[in-house]
Amino acid sequence: MKGIVFTELVEHVERAHGTDMADRIIERACPRSGGSYTAVGDYHHAELIALVGAMAAQTGRSAGEIQRDFGRALFARLAARKTSILPGSAFECLVQVESIIHRDVRMLYPSAELPSIVCERRGSDILVVDYASERPFADLARGLIEGCLAHYGERAEIREEEQDGARRRRFVLTRLAA
Ligand code: HEM
Repeated sequence: MKGIVFTELVEHVERAHGTDMADRIIERACPRSGGSYTAVGDYHHAELIALVGAMAAQTGRSAGEIQRDFGRALFARLAARKTSILPGSAFECLVQVESIIHRDVRMLYPSAELPSIVCERRGSDILVVDYASERPFADLARGLIEGCLAHYGERAEIREEEQDGARRRRFVLTRLAA
């Protein structure tokens, strides 16, 4: 996985709990890289799972909640770098993750390990988002979806259908009045 996900996670912990906690988490997770990440470097996704596990142990929250929380923050940070190309609504943005946003990431960073995000519109107020990956980050995907809605100031009910642990998940979004 690209280092940007790791640098953002470390900064996220530092913002929420301070640098001492971030150091303790890295120490506890004992990542092979030693925990000093660069945005364009490549690291094994097991390190992310270990860091999230160490955060869970330190804070008493579940790994799923931590991934979700981080996903919300991560969307805001990624979107801040990409404002010129983001479309006008959350549903349009989600529809374009696969065909435009992640496609651009893949072109810039051929070593990026990206999930498949396939969307299907069911009328104007329902969007089905299918997450599939070789990595188990469905909770992170949910957080990114929530971050996307928040970015546009939109609200939706999100129903989840688990399909293969955390590697495949269907999210059914029903738009709610803002
Ligand atoms: C501004 C919007 C977005 C940008 C710039 C972006 C970019 C990226 C980048 C750079 C990575 C890391 C690739 C790697 O680790 O090698 C990534 C991974 C990922 N992205 Fe996006 N992304 C965006 C929106 C989204 C949204 C809305 C979703 C959810 C529907 C999503 C789902 C994921 C997931 C779950 C991963 C982790 C890798 C995996 O699950 O296999 N992304 N994205």
